[in-house]
Amino acid sequence: MATRVRKAIFPVGGLGTRFLPATKAMPKEMLPIVDRPLIQYAVDEAREAGIEEFIFVTGRGKAAIEDHFDHSFELEQTLEARGKSDELAALRAWLPKPGQIAYVRQQEPMGLGHAVWCARHLIGDEPFAVLLADDLILADTPCLKQMMTVFDDQGGNVVAAMEVPHEHTSRYGIIETGGAEGEVHAVKGLVEKPAPDDAPSNLAVVGRYILMPEVFGELERQDIGAGGEIQLTDAMARLIGRQPFHGQVFEGQRFDCGDKLGFLEANFAFALEREDLGPALRQVLAAYGV
Ligand code: G1P
Repeated sequence: MATRVRKAIFPVGGLGTRFLPATKAMPKEMLPIVDRPLIQYAVDEAREAGIEEFIFVTGRGKAAIEDHFDHSFELEQTLEARGKSDELAALRAWLPKPGQIAYVRQQEPMGLGHAVWCARHLIGDEPFAVLLADDLILADTPCLKQMMTVFDDQGGNVVAAMEVPHEHTSRYGIIETGGAEGEVHAVKGLVEKPAPDDAPSNLAVVGRYILMPEVFGELERQDIGAGGEIQLTDAMARLIGRQPFHGQVFEGQRFDCGDKLGFLEANFAFALEREDLGPALRQVLAAYGV
């Protein structure tokens, strides 16, 4: 079995109802943070972590994502005709190579666990990553790359972890920790979206996972969990004790781009980081008294 993580799953079947009407005719993953769609940040992060195969679990109305990762002949011709060779080279260099991208359709929104399970035949018998584009992480070293270091050291399953306010535990998968070495927790238990009173900690799983293929066997049971959905958290929980399982408190700032305020904050944070926009945006903000 391959021990390197070569493949990543991007579940992009969600409806994006929180961003209506913007997402009526456009996938929420195509909403831009500054000038890049959310999904592109996730793909770039995966690529920087060494991922070579990108598997999208899509649904109806997601064709714009496929187009985004394809040639746009009209656009390329126009750029060429106008002598915009730098822009053209940048567009082409960034495109995934033929065969590096695959799409599988989740016919019904039955939960994150079900979405991941839909990609089982494309993963086969090797460890793989899952990235949720809604969770955007600004970090010096991309979050998934940080996790690869833990995977190389420890093997088994690794999830990204972050402390959240105690009253927010019902929004996340929550980790029961079996003790930590530095930023790396041994995971003793996992529970999906517990009420604050039932939560084993305030250490939440955010949308980056390195998983062993045995998780598919657990997803196969199609057990219904929190919110009436097939939960990835429940399947992962059943691997604990059988395989190494770690939660890594990553370096970086996470933005919940599935939420309007988080999405706006991400736009400011990413723009402020940029040399071409940061100084001018600071002036704009100052004019608003920020
Ligand atoms: C999903 C997972 C949850 C995780 C969260 C991170 O929930 O089910 O365990 O903590 O992503 O963003 P969702 O946000 O899709 O409801």
